Amino acid sequence: MPFFERPVERPEELFDREREFEDLRRSVVSHAITVVVGVRRVGKTSLVRASTFDLPRIYLDVRKFEESRYITYGMFLEELRKSLNSFASLDRKIIDYLKTVRGVRVFEFGVEFSLDRSRPLLTSILESLDRWAGDRGKRLVIVVDEAQELIKMKGYDVLPAIAYAYDNLRNISFVFAGSKIGLLYRFLRVDDPSSPLYGRYMERIEVRPLDKEKSIEFLRKGFEEHGIKVEESFLVEAVERLDGIIGWLSYLGLKAVGRGVHKAVIEEVVEEASKIVANEFCKFVEAMGSKRYVEIVKAIDREGATWSQIKRYLEIKLGTKIYDSELARLLKNLMNNGFIDKANDTYFIPDPILRHTARDIQC
Ligand SMILES: Nc1ncnc2c1ncn2[C@@H]1O[C@H](COP(=O)(O)OP(=O)(O)OP(=O)(O)O)[C@@H](O)[C@H]1O
Ligand SMILES: [Mg+2]
Repeated sequence: MPFFERPVERPEELFDREREFEDLRRSVVSHAITVVVGVRRVGKTSLVRASTFDLPRIYLDVRKFEESRYITYGMFLEELRKSLNSFASLDRKIIDYLKTVRGVRVFEFGVEFSLDRSRPLLTSILESLDRWAGDRGKRLVIVVDEAQELIKMKGYDVLPAIAYAYDNLRNISFVFAGSKIGLLYRFLRVDDPSSPLYGRYMERIEVRPLDKEKSIEFLRKGFEEHGIKVEESFLVEAVERLDGIIGWLSYLGLKAVGRGVHKAVIEEVVEEASKIVANEFCKFVEAMGSKRYVEIVKAIDREGATWSQIKRYLEIKLGTKIYDSELARLLKNLMNNGFIDKANDTYFIPDPILRHTARDIQC
C-alpha cells in the first residue's frame, strides 16, 4: 500500500495488524466495550476505522476538545448530532427511531437536538439506536476516538448511560480509543467501586509500534507502490531514527516521495516531528502549570531513569527538596497523559521523537 496522509479507512489499505484487526472485529460483536490504546500516531484510528468499515458505525472524534478546558453536555451533543447525521446520510431510516426521543427534531438534512431543558438524554438516544440495530438483526458500533477528552465534561456524566447500555442494550457495542492511556482508564473509572462501570468487562486491544523488520518492510513496500527504488541503508537509518511509529514512517515516506529520497530528508522529518512533539508536550506543561515536568523528561532522557535518579536530578536542577508525594503526582500525570511509561522500576519515554528531543525541550 502507498503512504497515506490520513488515517487508513479500508482493510486492504492496512499494513500488518492482522491480529489486532481480527481481535477488534471479534470484540465488537462479542463484548459491549472495547478499549483501543497505543501511543500517538501508532495507528489506532486506522485500525479502528478499517476494522469497522463494513459495520454500522457511529464515529465520534472528540480530539477537538483536547484544547478545551471543559466540555458541556451541549458540546458533546453537537458532536453526536453530526455523527448521527452523517450515519443517517447512509441509512435514513435511523431518523425514524431517533425522532421518538424527547428533545430530538427532524430536519431536511437530519436531526437536531434541543439544547434547553428538554435536551435529549444520552440513554434515550442509545435506546433508540439499539432498537434500530435490533430490528435489523445488526450490532451498531459506537466509536469514541480520543475518548479520554470526555473526562472534562462538566454537569453531565456519560458513564451511567454507557453502563446502562452495557447492561441492557445488546445491539450496541462501544469502542473507546485513546493515546492518553492512563486518562482513558481514569475517564472510564474501571477501578473505582463507585463508578457506574466498575466491574464491567472491557476488552483491551493494544496497538504497538512495528518492530524493526516490519518498519523497514512498511517503508520498502510504500516506496515500491509509489514506483521508487530505495537503498536499504536509507530504510535502516530511517527506522533507526523514527522507530516503528507508522505515522512518522508514513510522514517520511510522503515527504521523500515528494522531494526525492535523500538522507537529509530523514533529518528534516526528525526535526519537524520534534517540533510537533515538543509543542504538544509544552501545551501539556502549560495546562498543568509546572515546568517541573520539563525537568523530569530531561532526567529520564534517552536512557530512562529510576525514581531516585529522577528525584536527585530534580533536586540538583531546582536547588530545592522535592517531596515524594509531589514527585509521585508529577510522574502519574506524565504517565496518564502518555508521555512516560514504566517498566522494571525504570521510567522511560515511549515516543521515539520525544525521547530524542527531550534533552533540548524548552517550554
Ligand atoms: N496499518 C497501517 N497501514 C498503513 N498506514 C497506516 C497504518 N496505521 C497508520 N497508518 C498511517 O499512519 C498515520 C497515523 O495513523 P493514525 O491516525 O491511524 O494513528 P493514531 O494512532 O490514531 O494517531 P493519533 O495518536 O495522532 O490519533 C496515518 O497517516 C495513517 O495513514
Ligand atoms: Mg487517532
